[in-house]
Amino acid sequence: MKALITYYSDTGNTEKVARAIADAVDFDKDVRKISDVADWTGYDIVFIGFPVHAHSVPEKAAAQIAKIPQGRKVAFFSTHGSLRDGILPKQAFEHALGLAAKLTVLGHFGCRGKVAEVIIEALKKNPQHSAWAEEAAGAMRHPDENDLADAGVFAVQMMAKVKA
Ligand SMILES: Cc1cc2nc3c(=O)[nH]c(=O)nc-3n(C[C@H](O)[C@H](O)[C@H](O)COP(=O)(O)O)c2cc1C
Repeated sequence: MKALITYYSDTGNTEKVARAIADAVDFDKDVRKISDVADWTGYDIVFIGFPVHAHSVPEKAAAQIAKIPQGRKVAFFSTHGSLRDGILPKQAFEHALGLAAKLTVLGHFGCRGKVAEVIIEALKKNPQHSAWAEEAAGAMRHPDENDLADAGVFAVQMMAKVKA
């Protein structure tokens, strides 16, 4: 069995989760930035990580996801400033699932990730985003140990699905 763990990460949060997933995966594995993946074949499962941007998948990650050949088994993970299991990351996953219509999606995992100060300041200036700015500030210490442990549990669940 072979796994690819690939991610897009601007400030390192999603990369941390990718590394936790890689640590938990006991298949042969490659860990790569999504921009560095040229060949999607030869893997029994591909883990794909992205930070939620504007309630969605960042364009650079979306463009790569669109290139994955039909029928591949994938599992998504993301980090986001907003609360876990909230509506905002859910929208991003729905977008990712839309991009992956031709893929076999085994599952998805999300946890919070520290939001860059410049983003929080910009959010605060716009009253429309004030509630979200408060939520974003609360992500300061994430991903934390619990998040990374949960990511490992997710990885194990996904491996069990591949083997089934
Ligand atoms: C341009 C931009 C837009 C963002 N939009 C959202 C958003 O819509 N919802 C959310 O929960 N977090 C949002 N965030 C926060 C990031 O998803 C979060 O900080 C993430 O952990 C960053 O991951 P990275 O360090 O791997 O880049 C945004 C961050 C940036 C930079």
